[in-house]
Amino acid sequence: MSLWGRVFAAGYDAFLASAERSILADLRGELLAEASGRVVEIGSGTGVNLRHYPREIQELVCTEPEEPMARRLRRRAAESALPVRVVEAGAEDLPFDDDSFDTAVATLVLCTVPDPASALREVARVLKPGGRLIFIEHVRASEVRLARWQDRLHPLWVRFGHGCHCNRPTLETIEASPLQVIAHRRGRIPKAPPIVSPLVAGVAAAR
Ligand SMILES: C[S@@+](CC[C@H](N)C(=O)[O-])C[C@H]1O[C@@H](n2cnc3c(N)ncnc32)[C@H](O)[C@@H]1O
Repeated sequence: MSLWGRVFAAGYDAFLASAERSILADLRGELLAEASGRVVEIGSGTGVNLRHYPREIQELVCTEPEEPMARRLRRRAAESALPVRVVEAGAEDLPFDDDSFDTAVATLVLCTVPDPASALREVARVLKPGGRLIFIEHVRASEVRLARWQDRLHPLWVRFGHGCHCNRPTLETIEASPLQVIAHRRGRIPKAPPIVSPLVAGVAAAR
């Protein structure tokens, strides 16, 4: 693991704190309240979502491929009252059976996974038919001018954000996947750098 990868994991919660206060915590709480049954989360990071899941879920499997993140996630999981298990795995190759989860969760992660289309195919594979993906992602701007800035600054941001792509059209990638988007809304993360401020949140269903 690179030195920046370790620094990024150590500073992640502090870096996100203002965005959490302004909108993300409320959005996580609202959407994750709908999680039910067996739940798999991809790219859980430090485990920011843990406090937002309903107590009634049957099982929560948090996946995370990067050790410095996974270490913090395991600590949070140990303190949680939820039936949570941490699995070190990338979203493009989930070590789970087909049709084995009721809910999948992806928050601020499809910007970073190297191959989001493969990750979404995996999510669709492990979800039961009718199972739901809950997503909250920062995305490519719909305004041409801001999208151009996202493209210009992408080479710098991807290094600073440890693999985070600020210019991905993630909603369109979900729409092109085997999942069907059933609800979504767009918004902004106030006070975030403009290139990572456009936001999309919603739910998609496995067919
Ligand atoms: C910006 S963080 C988001 C963390 C958390 N989901 C949240 O909402 O705060 C992106 C996460 O994606 C993880 N990641 C990187 N490559 C991945 C992959 N191939 N599959 C799944 N997660 C990955 C990173 O290690 C990091 O924890």
